[in-house]
Amino acid sequence: MEKAVFPVAGLGTRMLPATKAVPKEILPLYDRPAIHYTVEEAARSGFSKMIFVTSKGKEAILNYFDRDVELEEILMARGKKEMADFLRGLSEMAEFIAIRQGVPMGLGHAVLQAKAVVDNEPFAVVLPDDIVLSDPPLLRQMRDLYLRTGKSVVALYRVPEEQIPSFGIADAEVKKDGQVVIHDLVEKPSIQEAPSDLAVIGRYILEPEIFSILEKTPPGRGGEIQLTDALKVLAKEGRLLGFIFEGKRLDIGNPEGFLKASLEIAAERGVKI
Ligand code: UTP
Repeated sequence: MEKAVFPVAGLGTRMLPATKAVPKEILPLYDRPAIHYTVEEAARSGFSKMIFVTSKGKEAILNYFDRDVELEEILMARGKKEMADFLRGLSEMAEFIAIRQGVPMGLGHAVLQAKAVVDNEPFAVVLPDDIVLSDPPLLRQMRDLYLRTGKSVVALYRVPEEQIPSFGIADAEVKKDGQVVIHDLVEKPSIQEAPSDLAVIGRYILEPEIFSILEKTPPGRGGEIQLTDALKVLAKEGRLLGFIFEGKRLDIGNPEGFLKASLEIAAERGVKI
């Protein structure tokens, strides 16, 4: 399994007005574009082909992973070898592939655009709004679970009660052997209706059959094709597992979360503010 799909064609409305000028994936979390962290996680998890589903105005994301020989030479001439090596390392992290989602018709639709490139192989979907800090990386642990079981896997995270209505929540059963079988997913339930406190977060390992399911999935909430609706089909057939993540998760999809994550990441790197 070598391909990881990064859907980045959304409008990023919660990060306006900043996202009127630049894609949110390029805004710096401490000293590097936010997208750097999730691509690094995927690379450290054994993925070697990063497939970006992009849209108009998002060119800066792919440019970041291009080689810039001229800049590297200038840095070398100025004695800044460490940064020159870091910049060269970006293009060597993986192979980068861009495909377009012409109209933002939802996350499920964005994933479907990757069908021709992914072909008939299991693959990861990574949402760059979720930064996770763990060793070994979360995606690697999920990939290993897929390789052991042959079943699609979604990352689950326990959330406090008051946050339940903001997430997709899993109706999940923990089996004797520790396997977490997902029977159903409920999008943004009330606290009373929620089947658990296990929220789906932005990491998925999917079998390629998800594409034929997505093709048959009608637009749901907000007129968009929802990935959750396709995952529910897998869940109903007993083919969806959960991986309960217990490390730190940072949500950078809104300004407060982004600021908090910047501070957390700086602190992890030993920066005193
Ligand atoms: P969100 O629903 O969080 O939307 O998408 P968004 O555009 O990122 O942000 P807000 O809500 O407007 O502030 C979840 C992920 O799916 C991608 C987004 O880029 C994000 O990574 N996505 C969403 C697409 O690629 N295409 C879509 O049509 C919708």
